[in-house]
Amino acid sequence: MKIKIDPAKTKTADLHQYLLGSVAPRPIAFVSTVDKEGNANLAPYSFFNAFSSNPPMLVFSSNRKVADNTTKDTLHNVRETDEVVINVVNHAILRQMALSSVSYESGVSEFEKSGLTPVPSDLVKPFRVKESPVNMECVVKDVITLGYEGGAGHLIICEVVRMHVSEDVLDENKKIDPHKIDLMGRMGRAFYTRASGDSIMKVFQPVGEIPIGYDKLPEHIKNSNILSANDIARLAGLAAWPTDEKIKAWKDANGELKGKDEKGKMKLAKEWIGVDQVEEAFILLVC
Ligand SMILES: Cc1cc2nc3c(=O)[nH]c(=O)nc-3n(C[C@H](O)[C@H](O)[C@H](O)COP(=O)(O)O)c2cc1C
Repeated sequence: MKIKIDPAKTKTADLHQYLLGSVAPRPIAFVSTVDKEGNANLAPYSFFNAFSSNPPMLVFSSNRKVADNTTKDTLHNVRETDEVVINVVNHAILRQMALSSVSYESGVSEFEKSGLTPVPSDLVKPFRVKESPVNMECVVKDVITLGYEGGAGHLIICEVVRMHVSEDVLDENKKIDPHKIDLMGRMGRAFYTRASGDSIMKVFQPVGEIPIGYDKLPEHIKNSNILSANDIARLAGLAAWPTDEKIKAWKDANGELKGKDEKGKMKLAKEWIGVDQVEEAFILLVC
């Protein structure tokens, strides 16, 4: 059973939590701006993502507060200066990021409150966060107002004009290593997730190969109560049915498995899928 939620009949504060609990984990833009006098401001925004690589565009949303319908300093500064630096949030600066999200009075620098270090940018006035492993200097291209009631967002559309990436988070090919960058994501309410260890996995999708697809799998595989939906999807993701030669070679090499009952084969296939021997598992199940 699923509960049904009608946005028109749900309090904004509750709807906010259903949306944020569902659209998660969200990346966190740690947004640095300055007002027209040059006073620094820093605040986290998890209504955030990258939307284009050419041109390189990032979008985040600064919302009217649900409690009192006021708008935020970041939005005021963006409207005054049209520039931001978006810094990423890794585990090492998580608590300092949380400190900076408090509603200090306008003109108070969250750099000072959080103990993070402002460093000058190359092309824009807002400072970069030294401790963040990636800083993206941006020019604001547009601000789209989504509404005028508490909770309404303002999409701030930013073009990246310079990136700074710490060498500490790069692998030997100068690509960002997800294990090294150790990014944080925002979930619903006060929950966060750390992208590290087992929570990072590779899902390899061959380019240009068309998988055989779930619909072409034999019924006993589709209906298996031993294989999980992910196991079955991996079998459906094979590029082609194994050739007769492959099946014959496999049978010759694994003659002792021929007598195994279906349940035993399913269990063994599951084990093999778990160690990436997907084609072997498929042959075991179809021969
Ligand atoms: C992890 C995190 C993510 C947040 N994401 C958003 C967001 O996407 N939009 C928003 O309006 N406020 C968001 N907030 C709340 C703002 O950071 C908070 O209102 C802050 O005081 C705004 O600062 P400013 O007035 O200096 O812009 C978030 C807070 C945290 C801790």
